[in-house]
Amino acid sequence: MGKKQLIPGEKDQSNIEVVDYKDPKESGQRMKYSIIETVIYVGWPMILFCISQFCFGILWISLLLFFLSLAWPYLKGVYANFIAKRKGIDDPREVLRSSSFFYDGFCVVGAPALREIRKHSALSRSLDVIYNNYKRFGILPKKFQDDSSYYPLMGSSILHSAINLAVKKWSFFWINMPVAQDVRSRLEIIAELYKNEILKHYQNGERQINICEIAGGQLQAVVMGIRRALDSGVEMDYRVVSIEPDNNFAIDRAKELIRVFGLNEGNFCFINTCISTQNKEKMVAKILESNGYNLGNFHVVTCIGLSDYYYTKERVAALLNSMKSDAVIIAANISDNFVERFFLHVLIQWPKMKYRPLSEWAEIVRHVFPDRSIKIITTPLKIFNIAVIR
Ligand SMILES: C[S@@+](CC[C@H](N)C(=O)[O-])C[C@H]1O[C@@H](n2cnc3c(N)ncnc32)[C@H](O)[C@@H]1O
Repeated sequence: MGKKQLIPGEKDQSNIEVVDYKDPKESGQRMKYSIIETVIYVGWPMILFCISQFCFGILWISLLLFFLSLAWPYLKGVYANFIAKRKGIDDPREVLRSSSFFYDGFCVVGAPALREIRKHSALSRSLDVIYNNYKRFGILPKKFQDDSSYYPLMGSSILHSAINLAVKKWSFFWINMPVAQDVRSRLEIIAELYKNEILKHYQNGERQINICEIAGGQLQAVVMGIRRALDSGVEMDYRVVSIEPDNNFAIDRAKELIRVFGLNEGNFCFINTCISTQNKEKMVAKILESNGYNLGNFHVVTCIGLSDYYYTKERVAALLNSMKSDAVIIAANISDNFVERFFLHVLIQWPKMKYRPLSEWAEIVRHVFPDRSIKIITTPLKIFNIAVIR
């Protein structure tokens, strides 16, 4: 990690330190990926244009096809938004969730791993595929336990094999896109933060650590962090409380990870609900209280991947305020990610996020915690900023 004190545009930097994280396990090459992604996006319409010219030779039809296919992901979004508004549906993805030829619809037959990411975008299932596709953390995504799960076709003819291989390569390309690389680096950073926090507590003579995960999803970071700490020889008791509304995948997967990493499920408590920054009954402290916990008794309180969907600064500040206690607080926000943010939204149907530059994220965090020491760790491609507040 390289340290720097400067945050562009910031006047008072007294309580903030910014640290760049380097991750040798990811390939980087942001520019290369951005260029290839753009070529793919424009490439399919070009192929259609050429086929149309070759078959019919009528320029205006070929051009129409070109522009329609270029605009197709957008048109889908406009249509879904329109219908969602008319029917009062909150999430336009519930209106139209179709595969994208540029992404998971590849080769018409489709790419199973990418389909999981798109279908469950912003939820734990998509992160499970992104985190574990390369077995970087020693496990594979659920239901992708062997090579063939990446293949859309059964059969062993040369054509089948060629298509399957192409789909697998295609999937691996997208799962290595810069934002996915930084998502894995973010997981690694947070797992290490947990491990180090546990070691620090142990060295201070404490023998139990209490952790609260808000929007914890499948809890992979905390599970990995505790495992690493135990493997380094500490004998520490741990209690983890997770506030997580996704009962379709996240909680079951968390329980599976707890088993796979050899931890004790009895030390984990799952509170299956949403937090809110507006409804008093749904605020973090209140939810904990009504489940028999006291926010003040936690040593670490974490919230990763939720403020990305909070569009106003006030709402993020309210979220951070609701986590306030003497605990170490860990929170992250996505930062600008041009040109990928466009593809993420139109091709992968990922819900729109609020991209906050480092200076804005730092300003919000400092506004809420003016008297605390703040470290912001930036992921290698600068796509996420992780604040550690002590
Ligand atoms: C992008 S995932 C992040 C999961 C996990 N923190 C991680 O980093 O692997 C966002 C999570 O927030 C959860 N979530 C969404 N709205 C929430 C809310 N209002 N309260 C609590 N969790 C929420 C989702 O179910 C999902 O698991």
